[in-house]
Amino acid sequence: MFPVTLKGDRINLREFEAADSEARWSYVSDPLVSRYQSWTPLADLEACKDMLLSDIAEAKSEDRRVYLLAVELEGQVVGEAGIILGSPRSASGSIFFTVSRQLWRHGYATEAAQMVLQFTFRTLGLHRVEATVHPDNAASRAVVTRKLGMQYEGRMRKAMRLFNDEWSDSDLFSLLQREWQHPPS
Ligand SMILES: CC(C)(COP(=O)(O)OP(=O)(O)OC[C@H]1O[C@@H](n2cnc3c(N)ncnc32)[C@H](O)[C@@H]1OP(=O)(O)O)[C@@H](O)C(=O)NCCC(=O)NCCS
Repeated sequence: MFPVTLKGDRINLREFEAADSEARWSYVSDPLVSRYQSWTPLADLEACKDMLLSDIAEAKSEDRRVYLLAVELEGQVVGEAGIILGSPRSASGSIFFTVSRQLWRHGYATEAAQMVLQFTFRTLGLHRVEATVHPDNAASRAVVTRKLGMQYEGRMRKAMRLFNDEWSDSDLFSLLQREWQHPPS
């Protein structure tokens, strides 16, 4: 499905465009934003541009597996959120979200993640959503457990490769479509 635009109370989620690379670079290059992520390290803005162009091409492909959406606040890209789909038969996916450090603790990740869940369960009709979280990432754990109602399933050993190429354990959480507490439509 392309393009996807989701309207929220304070933020919108929309497809990335090539012109968003500087805004994206401003948060992906922040060491505090990336420290618990398994992202491929990007050397500079040029590398970020190339990655974004490849992400946009994937989004437009017929067999789209990654819904990477820009979090837009008052016309500015301030983060990203989305879902990576598993095999079609599994009807499952893995959710992700990131917000610029200047805007942490204002509820934006919660709002973005809830919008992604609504899109995932209602529009894509998935059966199960997972989240993987670095064991020290208290902020992300708070979002998935307290805000999204996901259940802890266990710790995967050395399942996440960090920026510095170290292997880290990763905590797995999940939510089934039937457990999802969605707002009335
Ligand atoms: C994780 C992240 C997206 C949270 O974003 P955010 O917009 O600050 O989250 P919210 O404001 O929606 O906060 C949700 C809850 O988490 C809590 N929280 C936020 N940061 C926290 C922290 N460092 N420690 C403990 N709880 C925290 C908030 O207090 C809030 O709960 P409350 O409403 O009961 O107070 C943000 O910290 C981030 O971008 N981190 C870097 C990228 C990342 O790790 N992404 C997740 C990968 S799995």
